[in-house]
Amino acid sequence: MTIKIAPSILSADFADLGSEVKEAAEGGADYIHIDVMDGHFVPNITIGPLIVKAVRPHTNLPLDVHLMIENPENFINDFAEAGADIISVHAEACPHLHRTIQLIKKAGVKAGVVINPATPVSAIESIIEDVDLVLLMTVNPGFGGQSFITSVLPKIREVRSLAGPDKDVEVDGGVNEETAALCIEAGANVLVAGSAVFGKENRAQAIEKIRGEHVK
Ligand code: DX5
Ligand code: ZN
Repeated sequence: MTIKIAPSILSADFADLGSEVKEAAEGGADYIHIDVMDGHFVPNITIGPLIVKAVRPHTNLPLDVHLMIENPENFINDFAEAGADIISVHAEACPHLHRTIQLIKKAGVKAGVVINPATPVSAIESIIEDVDLVLLMTVNPGFGGQSFITSVLPKIREVRSLAGPDKDVEVDGGVNEETAALCIEAGANVLVAGSAVFGKENRAQAIEKIRGEHVK
């Protein structure tokens, strides 16, 4: 399977985002992961459409926007216009998940659905055929640098078997060279890594280590 690495700018230097993103791209990143938090759905506040727009001219890589916000349907068009290529929403934040996924597609970007570690795969079973990507949180969302929750591994297997071989199955949180190998073995093909990339001096080497022996 082709493995994609999506460095999360949450752990980058926000005063120097342009060159951080460039360095990740030159180091072999496949997507740039952007964590949007609102202080309501998760206990932290981060990035809005302005930052997505500011990052856009610095890379040709797909911008993978992870919305950890309440009422995400109100902001889909803003993020799409700012330059997002993929927008993912949490099932836990969307009482009308099908409608929100259709909104994302209508905005002309790829649609992803995300579930937290304690949410069962059954919560997204009936939307899987409508999405381009399923994102499984391997930490409780809100902060970078947390430890990988191993009990999510069986959910990765479950999602991969429901999604088939062609959809992106992404994991996010606590991914480093050791946990990446476990996720890939369970069927994930997109690995988000914040501190394991931007927390290291040499980003290219960090990305290579996470990808391991696997083919780009
Ligand atoms: C957590 C975010 C992650 C975070 C990952 O809520 O969704 O994308 O940046 O950071 P690490 O890789 O350091 O766990
Ligand atoms: Zn994320």
